[in-house]
Amino acid sequence: MILLISIVGSGKVGASIAFLCVSNELDDVLLVNTTKEKAIGESLDIASAIPENSKFSIRGTDNYSELVGSDVIIIAASVGVYTKHRAENMDFQVEMIKEIAEKIKQYCPSAIVLLVSNPLDVLTYFFQKISGFSRFKVIGIASSLDTSRFRYYISEKLSVPQSSVSNALVLGEHGDSMVPIFSGVSVGGNPLFSMIDSRETITENVRNYWRTLRTFKSRSQFGIAKNTFDVINAILKKKEISIPASIVLDGEYGEHDVAMGVPVKIDQNGVSEIQKIKLDDTELSSLKKSSQKIRNDIKSVHD
Ligand SMILES: NC(=O)c1ccc[n+]([C@@H]2O[C@H](COP(=O)([O-])OP(=O)(O)OC[C@H]3O[C@@H](n4cnc5c(N)ncnc54)[C@H](OP(=O)(O)O)[C@@H]3O)[C@@H](O)[C@H]2O)c1
Repeated sequence: MILLISIVGSGKVGASIAFLCVSNELDDVLLVNTTKEKAIGESLDIASAIPENSKFSIRGTDNYSELVGSDVIIIAASVGVYTKHRAENMDFQVEMIKEIAEKIKQYCPSAIVLLVSNPLDVLTYFFQKISGFSRFKVIGIASSLDTSRFRYYISEKLSVPQSSVSNALVLGEHGDSMVPIFSGVSVGGNPLFSMIDSRETITENVRNYWRTLRTFKSRSQFGIAKNTFDVINAILKKKEISIPASIVLDGEYGEHDVAMGVPVKIDQNGVSEIQKIKLDDTELSSLKKSSQKIRNDIKSVHD
């Protein structure tokens, strides 16, 4: 049976995710974009990457009713580019996500929804509230990208390959209060703490990765595309994946009524488990500050 992956927003990120799905022969792909020409143009370009023996296709539209039958929907839509921090265009983005949530609720009430658009945690929260979907089927993808960046900086700092870094994890907000979890990390089998003086430099580097990147390139696309593709792949291929991702919390990590990055297991039905992991006191208090930052952002959204 051919399944349908729909991607709302066919800009840099949406198109990159579509390219990975098509070139890896995952399933059919639909691009939905406000400007129809962009959706059609990207789908025509990506269609040339369909492998010779693939039975899957890609098409583009501006018509949300074509979402009917989608199994997984990725939201990579955006109405503006932030320059100082990810919550910059929050009111516009929340307005946008409310409209998208209403449409997805109307056309595909049983889809699993992966959010990528920023501000990630705030939009994950509002999408779940507006759609009324199970919180286990509304997943914000970003902390796994932040974790890739954490691993990158550890390997750079210690001049070791990333493959020797184990249990790196970033939790909390996909924003300036994100919390790299150092306490469980080992490098070549030894605790990371035995090899570094403090957490500060790596933490700042991870939080500022996007700012560093922006001094060379207008926006990031490939890292988030690969991290999102891995989740779509796990869902559609019925495999289990363990990553940090944003989900509305109901008591986990002592938090209610907020979405933030926590360690989860994801399978074909969405989030199957929110994993409880041991954190040290510094990490626990940073995570508390991070959830409060997201909560403040949610409260500041104007009706
Ligand atoms: N989670 C992460 O770790 C991560 C990483 C990187 C980027 N991001 C976020 O991902 C989002 C997309 O980034 P990008 O670089 O791809 O942006 P982009 O190139 O500007 O693309 C955004 C696209 O969304 C479309 N759009 C706007 N409103 C829409 C709606 N209601 N329905 C359908 N399409 C709509 C726009 O269409 P028009 O052209 O017609 O306006 C545009 O094609 C941003 O919010 C960005 O911050 C997240």
